[in-house]
Amino acid sequence: MLDFRGLVKILEERGELYRISRAVAPKFEMPAVMEQIEKQRKAFIFENVKGAKFPVIGGVLNRIECYGWALGIRPGDPFTARDMDARFEKAKASRIAPRVVATGPVKDVVRTGSEINLADIPVPTVFELDSGAFITAACGFSRNPHTGQLNVGVYRTLILGQNIVAVNASSLSDLRTFYQHAENNGTSMPIALAIGVEPALQMAAACKLPADQSELDVAGALQGKAIDLVKCETSDLLVPANAEMIFEGRVDFSRKIVNTLGEFAGQYGPETAPVTEITAITHRKDAMFYSILAGKNPEHNTLGSMAIFSIQRGLAGALRRQLPQIRDINVYLDPKFGSMAHIVFSIAKSNDAEPMEMIDAAFRMAGGFFPVSHITKRIVVVDDDVNVHDLEDVEWAIWTRIGDAGKFRVIPDVESWELERCAKEGRGSMRVGVDATMDMADRDKLLRPVIPGAGKVQLADYLNKESAA
Ligand SMILES: Cc1cc2nc3c(=O)[nH]c(=O)nc-3n(C[C@H](O)[C@H](O)[C@H](O)COP(=O)(O)O)c2cc1C
Repeated sequence: MLDFRGLVKILEERGELYRISRAVAPKFEMPAVMEQIEKQRKAFIFENVKGAKFPVIGGVLNRIECYGWALGIRPGDPFTARDMDARFEKAKASRIAPRVVATGPVKDVVRTGSEINLADIPVPTVFELDSGAFITAACGFSRNPHTGQLNVGVYRTLILGQNIVAVNASSLSDLRTFYQHAENNGTSMPIALAIGVEPALQMAAACKLPADQSELDVAGALQGKAIDLVKCETSDLLVPANAEMIFEGRVDFSRKIVNTLGEFAGQYGPETAPVTEITAITHRKDAMFYSILAGKNPEHNTLGSMAIFSIQRGLAGALRRQLPQIRDINVYLDPKFGSMAHIVFSIAKSNDAEPMEMIDAAFRMAGGFFPVSHITKRIVVVDDDVNVHDLEDVEWAIWTRIGDAGKFRVIPDVESWELERCAKEGRGSMRVGVDATMDMADRDKLLRPVIPGAGKVQLADYLNKESAA
């Protein structure tokens, strides 16, 4: 297990981190350089950001191997998204509760009142139409008003002034429900943003967990050690003792800000967020400011994929339970295809109406965290000789087995989630159902050519000795 600095050290030792001493402007210039470094899947430290008092670090979790290294996998040993998913499932089952400690490195420097100046922080402005500079890597700490449990998520936060920010909580986040609860009760609420936390906590914060599970418990289990927490200076929230920086704040619902930011799926999106007054900043004496390049970029999307594992599980589990004819299923929610899920499942159908009936039923279902139709743009049904996990095979089935227009269905005016930016105001969006199974009457005509015994023979048994050597 490695803490944030441990991961940075390991990246630097392996030549995976660029240090940049040249002065850069935080608006556009630094993100333009970050983008080039991200493309190489390297990490970076900008040591000299114009006008700011801290260096900027980023790119530390921009490919799945980095997650493995942070969790103790040795360099060179394989670590895939599937391994990460398995780690999460194990951590959810084993959980290690956080530990409250008296103090920690994040309390080296404590600033309150007029000592707070967000202009000291090197927060980048990334895209030309963004509303301003966004903190992108903060783990936001709040309390569930019903259970008192601490909740953690990653929320982009717009800088609005010397001590004013707006923390964006999407309609799918637990934080949004806490906002609504406080607003309905006419009260303000405390929030804290932690920058540069243990990588396991950063991963758990991005993960979508059921409301009764704590990101802190899962993070502890992921790293095999409790997360140390310290009390905030200006509220009763607890925050990571080993973080680089903490911004403590109070959310005020009397003023809301509409803000625009470039998002993970490669579009802009408007958000509305209440303003938060920053009441204290605490930090390590040599603190680094962690920033994730926003938009459709590797670190944002790799970290975002932590949420996708559990959403995929929720959708696939709900569909399998309610449609037991499903042989195999693939739910993919990949920013390469935008912000929406696509679902492919295979069946051994007994009649030609069955696939479209299943598509209709699937779009009507609750899908774990969110209704299936809210976040799923397309459902494709294939025969069970098609590999649902091989999207080329699925495309092949669509374009070789469909000869009838009725096997494509476009469903209009479906309520969507706000991240589907092309949805129409008041009308929602469209959904597509594709029955890519062979018609019963076509089966003999459309059989796939198969070599008997293919895949079972051992090539080495057939090669001449000299060519095998
Ligand atoms: C880099 C990054 C930025 C994110 N920005 C936001 C955001 O601005 N608002 C939001 O609600 N979720 C955002 N998310 C997703 C949430 O962190 C994620 O859904 C989390 O589970 C929400 O936690 P909650 O449901 O406990 O509030 C972001 C995720 C990543 C990786």
